[in-house]
Amino acid sequence: MFNLRTITTPSLVGEPALEGVHSDGVDHTMTTLLSSENMTDDSAITSIHDMQEINGTRWNEINTKLVVGRHQHRHFLDTMLVVDHERKHSVSPVIAVNNPQQKSTRDTLILFTRKPAVEGHISAPYDSFKKHVIRPMSVGIPSLLRP
Ligand SMILES: [Fe+2]
Repeated sequence: MFNLRTITTPSLVGEPALEGVHSDGVDHTMTTLLSSENMTDDSAITSIHDMQEINGTRWNEINTKLVVGRHQHRHFLDTMLVVDHERKHSVSPVIAVNNPQQKSTRDTLILFTRKPAVEGHISAPYDSFKKHVIRPMSVGIPSLLRP
């Protein structure tokens, strides 16, 4: 999990996903909005793409026939969960609303899940299927690939 602040200034347009259409290389990606300031209503819209969309395609050059969903985080704790190995995503820029001379910000939490790393991987000693001792939790998430 990490916190991502996207900032747009008069001289720089902030893009939450400058890499264009992509997958994060995990099993699930979850994004939660913490706050935004001075952001237009059409800023930071996430598009969800069929896996046939080409990686790196800019948000405004996507094949709309391959878009399977759109979501915009507008309010505190608005959350989106993507099965990362079944869908790609892209995000439009953050645009300042009232005063273009004033900066615009968007703060999100980004959470990834993945299966534990295999033996020999640098993360393997830190991964486990053991439930947390005090707060055990499991989440059943539907998948398009499961029968
Ligand atoms: Fe991503």
